[in-house]
Amino acid sequence: MQDFDFDDLHPDTLAIRAGTTRSEFGEHSDAMYLTSSFCVGSAEEASLKFTNQIPGFIYSRFTNPTVTAFEERLAALEGGEKAIATASGMAAILALGMAHLKAGDHVVASNGLFGATIQLFNTYFVKFGVEVSYVSATDPAAWQAAVKPNTKLFFLETPSNPLTEVADIPAIAAVAHANGALLAVDNCFCTPILQQPLKLGADLVVHSATKYLDGQGRVLGGAVVGKKELIDPVYLFLRTAGPSLSPFNAWVILKGMETLPIRMRAHCENALKLAQWLESRPEIDRVFYPGLESHPQYALAQRQQKGGGGIVSFEVKGGREAAWKLIDRVQLLSRTANLGDVRSTITHPASTTHGRVTPEARATAGIREGLIRISVGLENIDDLIADLERGLA
Ligand SMILES: Cc1ncc(COP(=O)(O)O)c(C=O)c1O
Repeated sequence: MQDFDFDDLHPDTLAIRAGTTRSEFGEHSDAMYLTSSFCVGSAEEASLKFTNQIPGFIYSRFTNPTVTAFEERLAALEGGEKAIATASGMAAILALGMAHLKAGDHVVASNGLFGATIQLFNTYFVKFGVEVSYVSATDPAAWQAAVKPNTKLFFLETPSNPLTEVADIPAIAAVAHANGALLAVDNCFCTPILQQPLKLGADLVVHSATKYLDGQGRVLGGAVVGKKELIDPVYLFLRTAGPSLSPFNAWVILKGMETLPIRMRAHCENALKLAQWLESRPEIDRVFYPGLESHPQYALAQRQQKGGGGIVSFEVKGGREAAWKLIDRVQLLSRTANLGDVRSTITHPASTTHGRVTPEARATAGIREGLIRISVGLENIDDLIADLERGLA
């Protein structure tokens, strides 16, 4: 749909201009094509489109112009050949697995994954004969040690949710490729504005567009990005099974993406100030934020990311009781599990996002009872600090 090359444009421009479609009416802002199917001029045209002999829109489970605009914008930002949109971030991870794995395959994954991703792997992938081993995201040698002859996929989040562990993407990509496996990276926390995993050696990127891409906590969405040959099988799964993105949600996310670069810079600025303040508080044992010099992978994060991101986690002294007290006392921060919103949110991972994970898996992932995750929004930082001060009082 593009009639010029985006290679030389900056992310700020791509976030606004890439993927823009214009109908015969010449609308300036992206139109929303809220239609489930598309008409054809003749029976022959229908046949040619259904058999992919000519391009064109057929049915919104397969393709839709608004969804295509979102896919093209995200692919341009990630530096990927192609993106495919999904109904949610989890649908993206499911679609990736359905397209690229089969019974008898083995996956190596980082042990600090989002709770539902662990559930998907341990309950459903396993049910269909796919074995998953978990290793430390921060130790490339552990990935090599976990490889088996049937290893097909490496999967990691960086920074991880909620402990913000940073994985060395080029080093882990090298291990994957030396063993004939693909590397998929969940880039939800950084977004392509702060980190472009494909340029660092990953083969596939998955997104929960529900988070920063929308940025205002309105709709669910997801995507898988990569080389055309790796995305086409994901498209075929979606076309057949149906966890596709609705055009309404695609339109909302497209609008959100226009402010993604400026929002990400502001999230990073607020999060760093909050992390520094938390580090100075005696009630807190540890702060996890890749932009802090005390973070174990600070040097790697400086190299790999254009900012620390908007997620700050910390452990309060006193375990679950102290953590819940703090959460119950704040008045401004929203008590909700979503992240990546302009509104700051506060969550107790052990009893919410990771609540369904077994205690053993939680322990392996390092999710302790005193841990709190804050998705730092764009409110004034002094107001956020005052609210947390009230929580700690
Ligand atoms: C890192 C990460 N990946 C994937 C997901 C799943 O995304 P969704 O809720 O859009 O299915 C989440 C949701 O919180 C997440 O934090």
